Amino acid sequence: MKIAVIGSGGREHAIIKKIKENPNVEVIYALPGNGGIAADATCVNIGAKDLDKIVEFCVENKIDYVVVAPDDPLVLGLVDRLEEVNIPAFGPRGNAAIIEGSKVFSKNLMKKYNIPTAAYETFDDAEKALEYVKTCPIPTVVKADGLALGKGVIIAMTREEAADAVRSIMLDKQFGASGNQIVIEEFMEGPEVTVLSFTDGKVVKPMVSSMDHKRAHDFDEGLNTGGMGTIAPNPYYTKEIADTCMEKIFLPTIAALNAEGRTFKGCLYFGLMLTKDGPKVVEYNSRFGDPETQVVLPLLDSDLLTIMQATTYGTLEETEVKFKDSYAACVIMASDGYPEHYEKGYEIAIPEEVSNMVFVAGAKLEDGRLLTNGGRVLGCSGIGKSLEEAIANAYRVVDKVHFDNQYYRHDIGQRALKAKESL
Ligand code: AMP
Ligand code: GLY
Repeated sequence: MKIAVIGSGGREHAIIKKIKENPNVEVIYALPGNGGIAADATCVNIGAKDLDKIVEFCVENKIDYVVVAPDDPLVLGLVDRLEEVNIPAFGPRGNAAIIEGSKVFSKNLMKKYNIPTAAYETFDDAEKALEYVKTCPIPTVVKADGLALGKGVIIAMTREEAADAVRSIMLDKQFGASGNQIVIEEFMEGPEVTVLSFTDGKVVKPMVSSMDHKRAHDFDEGLNTGGMGTIAPNPYYTKEIADTCMEKIFLPTIAALNAEGRTFKGCLYFGLMLTKDGPKVVEYNSRFGDPETQVVLPLLDSDLLTIMQATTYGTLEETEVKFKDSYAACVIMASDGYPEHYEKGYEIAIPEEVSNMVFVAGAKLEDGRLLTNGGRVLGCSGIGKSLEEAIANAYRVVDKVHFDNQYYRHDIGQRALKAKESL
């Protein structure tokens, strides 16, 4: 089989390494991939948002199955475009990917179908939003409606911050057209859990839960980032909470999308907060999370490609989705200065003995040398029989990988370890 994977991050690298385990796979193309992914797939220089070129490439090269990993091409309708030329693809159609593409849509969906989430108001007029934040409960959370590279959420601790957020999103258009509408919602408190799930629109099979570490520095200080590390499973996500989430959130979400004529197939990402009133949805994503994928897929014991195809063909019910009874951790090695200013172009050395657990994101090949080329450069994962062991194994990989100007957090998983002791 010929497979194409759309995207260029650590998540895509983890997906590619896992798909390679299927003996029927002859070749994997990565569009566009990156310098590190080139060790595991044939990289083709076509951007993930260039839908015309992607479709043309897949037709010309008789691709059997396409995995669309990032949010942008999903929301732009790449899966629909591929279906039109009879190429099956993993991921939701555009009309279902909107669950990530528009926060106004997803909040209204949750309200209509009684799915627990933060109370909210939506605005398409900045004056009305500014009026609202004069009296709303504080802290409050201001969110741009559309995709904003994970940066369109501002937690405002004061009224002034809330008004500034409204102005920067709606008037200064900090996130472009994504800020034409906004959601202003109740500030929630509690541990956060990510649950990725496979669904064919009929059944939902959750993957092992995980915990992201979004802040740049140790002890959850510093700016928000795309994610500095992850662990799985998440100790806060007990069997009892998982059952509640299935009943009150996962199944109702699949049913709600069906009822709206927007059947979702692919990976549905549930960003949850375990509040004192029970689990609530923080956000949905229409795809695998990054860097959650780098801990979840190494724990998958079943064949990833078979499961992905089952979501497309509606046979997920009878398809095995099994996870190892182990733990995983991933530490992101970034360029010093990320998420603000940082330098690029430093040579990266990844010893062969650990390359299996290194997922490359921001790197390019130049004259046969792998060079840093982004903020988040790569992720180092480890698995183990205990969370301690998984964390130690991940940091062992970190110690073996080298590039100058590197930065990483030293406390990935520490909060989860403390939680395990106290639960
Ligand atoms: P999102 O992009 O919607 O996942 O938001 C990014 C992060 O902001 C989340 O992971 C939470 O940590 C935080 N956040 C989002 N919405 C809320 C909320 N209503 N209350 C508290 N924190 C939130
Ligand atoms: N790690 C968060 C996300 O993928 O959106």
